[in-house]
Amino acid sequence: MQEQNIAILGSGNIGLSLAKGLVKAGQYKPQQITLTRRNITALAELKLNGYSITADNHAAVQKADIVVLAVLPQQLNKLLDEIKTAISIESQLFISVISGVSCEDIRRHLHMDVQVVRAMPNTAIAIGHSMTCIATDRSSVENVQVVKAMFDTVGISIQINEELMTSATALCACGIAFFLRSIRAASQGGTEIGFHAHDALKMAAQTAKGAADLLLQLASHPEHEIDKVTSPKGCTIAGLNEMEHNGFSSAMIKGIKMSADKAGVLYKKED
Ligand SMILES: NC(=O)c1ccc[n+]([C@@H]2O[C@H](COP(=O)([O-])OP(=O)(O)OC[C@H]3O[C@@H](n4cnc5c(N)ncnc54)[C@H](OP(=O)(O)O)[C@@H]3O)[C@@H](O)[C@H]2O)c1
Repeated sequence: MQEQNIAILGSGNIGLSLAKGLVKAGQYKPQQITLTRRNITALAELKLNGYSITADNHAAVQKADIVVLAVLPQQLNKLLDEIKTAISIESQLFISVISGVSCEDIRRHLHMDVQVVRAMPNTAIAIGHSMTCIATDRSSVENVQVVKAMFDTVGISIQINEELMTSATALCACGIAFFLRSIRAASQGGTEIGFHAHDALKMAAQTAKGAADLLLQLASHPEHEIDKVTSPKGCTIAGLNEMEHNGFSSAMIKGIKMSADKAGVLYKKED
């Protein structure tokens, strides 16, 4: 159990999932976590569970050891202006999960040399299965370890160079949607060949989970596992090649590149 107090500024999808994940993992008590958003009625249930709830970001930062920035990129500058006079440079660690905003962007907007570590989780953080990429430019090794330990309780994390954070957004954060759409498409195919929609979705999702686990648990390569399924003149290779003739791999690669381009321009740098 950690002793620090955390303020999560912007308790939407990711902020709330992080809070719940940390509590579920036994790392923090709800009483150590302050959740903020402007519409706090949406957080009423969390208050009953012991979390501190407020719309006052300034007050939340004043009593925090760790400040998590989890608003949308276009909401960040206003938030930073609001909390600026509550920040203690020496004692606080800032964690930003915001896409497309660098550590330097945050320091520059604040005109303060705060310790910032970036983390890029995905929505599987809600069930403790996030793939989180962590990066910083000049925060201490100790602070990076604090952030890594935090996100390791809600999935798997790796440290990467900060210039790759935009790519990490596309592959891991947006990636959840790409794989979900793949599963949805498979279930639609399943329905067309005879299964009720709810059965087809369950069958497709479990099959996708099995495929991912084959790679993760056996440290195997996709093509090695594909070779085991594709017998000569068989039905799997026929289906797979038909998908490739229709651009399956190419569509995924192009989509990831498009998302990375877009992720890089989400934040409007001002001063
Ligand atoms: N969703 C993902 O898969 C994902 C993955 C990785 C990283 N991210 C990043 O995480 C950030 C949050 O994404 P999200 O999906 O969680 O968005 P979201 O659900 O829209 O959450 C943002 C929250 O910020 C609150 N907010 C806005 N302005 C605020 C302010 N001044 N003070 C306090 N709270 C404020 C909003 O609530 P009110 O309107 O009530 O204030 C909202 O609940 C984004 O920057 C995104 O790039 C998202």
